Amino acid sequence: LALVLCVSAGGDFDWTKNEKTSFYYGTFPTGFSWGVGSSAYQTEGAWNTDGKGMSIWDVFAHKKGKISSNETGDSSCEGYYKFKDDINLMKEMKLSHYRFSVSWPRILPSGLRSEHVNEKGIRYYSDLIDLLLDSKITPVVTLYHWDLPQVLQEKYGGWQNASMVGYFNEFANLCFERFGNRVKHWITFNNPWSISVEGYETGEHAPGLRTRGSGAYKAAHHIIKAHAKVWHTYDMKWRSKQKGLIGISLTADWGEPVDVSNQRDVEAAERYIHFYLGWFATPLFHGDYPAVMKEYIGRKSGQQGLGASRLPVFSPQEKSYVRGTVDFLGLGHYTTRYVTQKNYPSGFGDSYFADRDLAELVDPKWPDPGSEWLYSVPWGFRRLLNFAQYGNPMIYVTENGVSEKTLCTDLCDDWRMQYFREYINELLKAVRDGVNVKGYTAWSLLDGFEWDEGFSERFGLYFVDFRNKNKPRFPKASVQFYKCIISSNGFPS
Ligand code: NOJ
Repeated sequence: LALVLCVSAGGDFDWTKNEKTSFYYGTFPTGFSWGVGSSAYQTEGAWNTDGKGMSIWDVFAHKKGKISSNETGDSSCEGYYKFKDDINLMKEMKLSHYRFSVSWPRILPSGLRSEHVNEKGIRYYSDLIDLLLDSKITPVVTLYHWDLPQVLQEKYGGWQNASMVGYFNEFANLCFERFGNRVKHWITFNNPWSISVEGYETGEHAPGLRTRGSGAYKAAHHIIKAHAKVWHTYDMKWRSKQKGLIGISLTADWGEPVDVSNQRDVEAAERYIHFYLGWFATPLFHGDYPAVMKEYIGRKSGQQGLGASRLPVFSPQEKSYVRGTVDFLGLGHYTTRYVTQKNYPSGFGDSYFADRDLAELVDPKWPDPGSEWLYSVPWGFRRLLNFAQYGNPMIYVTENGVSEKTLCTDLCDDWRMQYFREYINELLKAVRDGVNVKGYTAWSLLDGFEWDEGFSERFGLYFVDFRNKNKPRFPKASVQFYKCIISSNGFPS
């Protein structure tokens, strides 16, 4: 008698057990990895230098009215020229890893390997990797942090088109070929939720499309397949020699039921998370979309039955192809919402947001020093980590941090220290709960180009003076603070 156990994330999650315990003094397991993160378009600048091609963000940011104050990432932090200085900053902090992304059009200006490989772009990343390794800092490389080659958007419609799966695989394969002898931690996609929803549905992000209905689901479907293909390529061609790991970085806020004793609120919170994290994690760990997505999008599509909806369908072969293609789960997390059941009237619009049938609320007492969307709710982090159990995967926190909205040089970022202290403490509690977390990445090393917010929102541990051509960096108080956490590996009593 074969007993088939199908454990899905959150399946045995106890919603009523929200222990908001006091500060926990203790340390992380030995060998825990401490890092900082960045991405190419947000920090490199050098947008048209040394043979780099255009990305969708270069084009989007140059359009009037898309970015706050019409700013662009043309020069940003000039990271392309200043990476040696930046690695010195990391050395001083005694970081174990640095997460950065490779710009696809810097390496393949036309997007395609068959056309032209830009050796100067390869050289830049190669030098960066070498210097990190010389400095005893492990490179963690993201292959796609949103800067798709513009030609691929123009010719094929970007992630709306299935051909992107093959093109991305060629690009990834080239990176394994050139950098894989030195890079052992790969992240295929950064935050596919945002790529799909903000890039292809709300249009707040490049390429700025507003395809209400199925656009986001279609983009996500191709991203999931592209991730799986790259994992298989690595597994077949490179793994035995290079011995690295292929992960993906999923961003998810936590959704807490407004009233945990109300079953409808609990189900709404589950939907919130399954439409966010589960949308990508469930196919990659279990081979298909969360049942609740199929059900709800089906309903909203006016169709009966599972699968009959605007949500694309995986064939049986595709299910087994995408299942089990995550060597480690990268988690980006910033904030929390309260969630309650709300029936959107039919005809409200075929939008991702309406499909979920829920309302999000915030507690007016939650602090929000920077971004309008980012409230500091540390306990949500531990809840998310405990919920994200897809068979106890190896987890790296790939992003966590807080911003400030200020143009002046404010280096006393006590709210950031407070945020890190509390969030990292909740992470420690999650580790003690048994969640298999191997590392933490503070977002971010430097203030950078914060997408549609331009430079108005600062996430950096280091302040960057963007008005000065040399883009000097100044440590905020949180640099010392983070350094202390690193050197003591947590919060020893
Ligand atoms: C997630 C994105 O991956 C990153 O690029 C961005 O800076 C942070 N969120 C903060 O908004």
